[in-house]
Amino acid sequence: MAYAFDDIKKVGVIGAGLMGAGIAQVLATVGYDVVLNDMNAEALAKAKTDIEGRIDRMVEKGKLEADAAAAAKGRLTTSGDLTSLADTQMVIEAIIERLDIKQSLFAELEGIVSADCILASNTSSLSIASIAKNCENRARVVGMHFFNPVPPMKLVEVIGGAATDAGVVDATYEMGKAMGKVPVIAKDGPGFIVNLGGRAYYTEGLHIEAEGVAPPEQIDRIMKMAGGFRMGPFELMDLTGIDTNFPVSTFIFNGYHSDARLRTTPRHGYMVEAGLLGRKVGRGFYDYAQDLPKLPTPPEAGPRTSLTAVLPERSDAFAPLVEKGLSAAEDDGKAPILVSPLGEDCTSTVARLGLDPKRTVAVDLSAVERGIVTVMTAPGGSDVLEAVTTWLAGAGLHVEVIKDSPGFVAPRIISMIVNLCCEMAQIGVGSPEDLGKAMTMGLNYPFNPLEYGDKVGADRVLSIMEGLQSTTGSERYRPSLWLKRRALLGLSLSTAD
Ligand code: NAI
Repeated sequence: MAYAFDDIKKVGVIGAGLMGAGIAQVLATVGYDVVLNDMNAEALAKAKTDIEGRIDRMVEKGKLEADAAAAAKGRLTTSGDLTSLADTQMVIEAIIERLDIKQSLFAELEGIVSADCILASNTSSLSIASIAKNCENRARVVGMHFFNPVPPMKLVEVIGGAATDAGVVDATYEMGKAMGKVPVIAKDGPGFIVNLGGRAYYTEGLHIEAEGVAPPEQIDRIMKMAGGFRMGPFELMDLTGIDTNFPVSTFIFNGYHSDARLRTTPRHGYMVEAGLLGRKVGRGFYDYAQDLPKLPTPPEAGPRTSLTAVLPERSDAFAPLVEKGLSAAEDDGKAPILVSPLGEDCTSTVARLGLDPKRTVAVDLSAVERGIVTVMTAPGGSDVLEAVTTWLAGAGLHVEVIKDSPGFVAPRIISMIVNLCCEMAQIGVGSPEDLGKAMTMGLNYPFNPLEYGDKVGADRVLSIMEGLQSTTGSERYRPSLWLKRRALLGLSLSTAD
């Protein structure tokens, strides 16, 4: 069977909900004849009105000529009857996310469309191989995963199931481009690229909170100020809905046979049980009836003062603080001791180096250039903490004080993101290039994790992961072999095997 992109002129879209309406709109606007189908006549009528309204607004905003808009509207027809899809060369399904219903729809479609019509599913989680299970010709079933809202979101994941013909994947990839999207090829597996890649941010935030290191608002603040993220993990879960985020997290965790890297925490599920689903119900990790916390402005640098401290290891790392007046001294038995461990908590550093815990403060120096430092002490606190934080604030830095944690907050979460992306490269969820595109465009991350790892140094990310693993003893933090090999060889994390 030949599946050629050039033969596709008319496309059927099944499901006129949020996603189907967006997909139909884009197809009609770029020049395809579209039949939009839904079993619910009301949904179909609403979708048509919404699409036409959005096309009109494109004209008002000068994004589309009036005659092109009229032509786009003319190319879109709606139908409640599946047989109206008989003369399409491609069908994109966007109905309810239920495997049994999708399986029977795909089998039914085979009796309606021509033998070389491509059957695509916009499923966000189900396996393409499973959706194709009841089809006679499984080779023509493919995944085409768009993101919400479809018209502005640039990314589309194209997923070939185990039985999908390579020509079908190619034609679907070309369709993505023709729709003005950036297609990436994702392996058929739980969460494909984007939903899997997003797990590290949420679940590590949850683990840090569960360990009592910092509350959600502090973790969110650190991730925005130190990590450059637009939203913290808890704000993001509240926005997308914890009733979506939790089931997706457990589905992916189970799909990867309980890989500890993907494990979430009990509170995640309890939020759903308690109906604290996020913004849409007014309460999730935050209470939206209250004033929400705002980012503080970093303190003004005070008159230049000095601090004399003992720097028992990695003293070079303190250079940005030395510039601000820190001076290193021999231990006189009284001076503060500053450490900056990679992936180790303050307690383990104190024990390893034989330091006095009452005089030791661990400082995360990874975001000094962003004007923020995170500090922590061993349990029981440190007598010099106040002197150190006062000096840091006087030097114009925003200071976050957290409980003892291996890897602080931002380096710990970011290393988990980089490590997961490395693992995804290792197991072929996507090519390094496609992983980068998907993580930045699909998740709006401020960086491509593989490039970020290269920038800070793969060896440094590896040290943080190894520190996390040995300090916690948890296989959640085991470094990906992709990361390890490239760090050992001094290669870029985007280097293919
Ligand atoms: P939705 O609930 O807004 O729309 C689904 C539509 O499908 C409804 O209008 C319903 O009447 C119709 N429908 C259900 N069964 C049907 C059938 N057998 N034949 C014809 N029409 C049928 O759902 P939404 O959010 O648009 O999701 C659709 C699909 O897209 C799901 O598989 C979902 O997982 C996936 N998806 C959703 C995203 C999102 O952010 N909402 C993002 C990416 C994928």
